[in-house]
Amino acid sequence: MSAAETRDLELRDVRRSFGATQALRGVSLAVRQGEVYGLVGPDGAGKTTAMRILSGLLRPHEGSATVLGVDPAHPRGEARERLGLVPQRNTLYGDLSVDENLHFFASLFGLSRPDFEARRERLLHITRLGRFTERRADALSGGMYKKLALACALLHRPRVLLLDEPTNGVDPVSRRELWELLYGLVHEGMTLLVSTPYMDEAARCHRVGLLYEGQLIAEGEPRALARAHGVSPSDFESVFLAIIARRDGRAA
Ligand SMILES: Nc1ncnc2c1ncn2[C@@H]1O[C@H](COP(=O)(O)OP(=O)(O)OP(=O)(O)O)[C@@H](O)[C@H]1O
Ligand SMILES: [Mg+2]
Repeated sequence: MSAAETRDLELRDVRRSFGATQALRGVSLAVRQGEVYGLVGPDGAGKTTAMRILSGLLRPHEGSATVLGVDPAHPRGEARERLGLVPQRNTLYGDLSVDENLHFFASLFGLSRPDFEARRERLLHITRLGRFTERRADALSGGMYKKLALACALLHRPRVLLLDEPTNGVDPVSRRELWELLYGLVHEGMTLLVSTPYMDEAARCHRVGLLYEGQLIAEGEPRALARAHGVSPSDFESVFLAIIARRDGRAA
């Protein structure tokens, strides 16, 4: 990485505990402008904690975070205005329709009426939710629900998007559709940090970091990581299992 200004997202030696649980144990990573960075790791690895720190919802106990060069937890919220978050768990209003959810989130972001109308049309188009505007969020399929959450996070035109397990519980066809949608956003100049427990999704990212027990134990381009471990890039599970086994062996 050359210039510091190309780092849209950065964690520097971040530590964060919850009681006796050390969720992050000195994690450093940087995501470049226009990059799709995959934070891959099993349940409890610390993925959500990292996302919450980068979105300014949680402060690190040690180390620091920056989003577009500023502290994401800054009270004036400069970073938050340029950052979108698709949280892991259901955050939409189940009793509200697709359109009502979009309206609600637009009001939170303070979008003007004409801006909202233009944005609504564009987002309904790219998510292909246009035919379902009257449907209650709770009545949407898993994939459609995730797309609506994504649309709500994109209303204010963020430069950087954090997606916490956006494809979890989504069928393979919808998963592919969601990824195509994400590539479209990157094509428009957005930077993405995507967490996933699915090892095979690593191959879809420009770079991946393997988070394990609160530490980043491997990082690199998917193909290079696969090559270094003598396995096919289509078999990421083996890459990561090998890295984890080696690390656990050392620890023992
Ligand atoms: N608010 C909290 N209170 C107590 N423990 C927490 C809290 N948040 C996270 N933890 C713990 O910190 C560790 C990391 O959790 P985190 O949610 O960041 O992992 P994750 O990688 O997102 O896991 P998952 O794939 O299950 O979403 C876990 O052991 C979790 O139980
Ligand atoms: Mg999580």
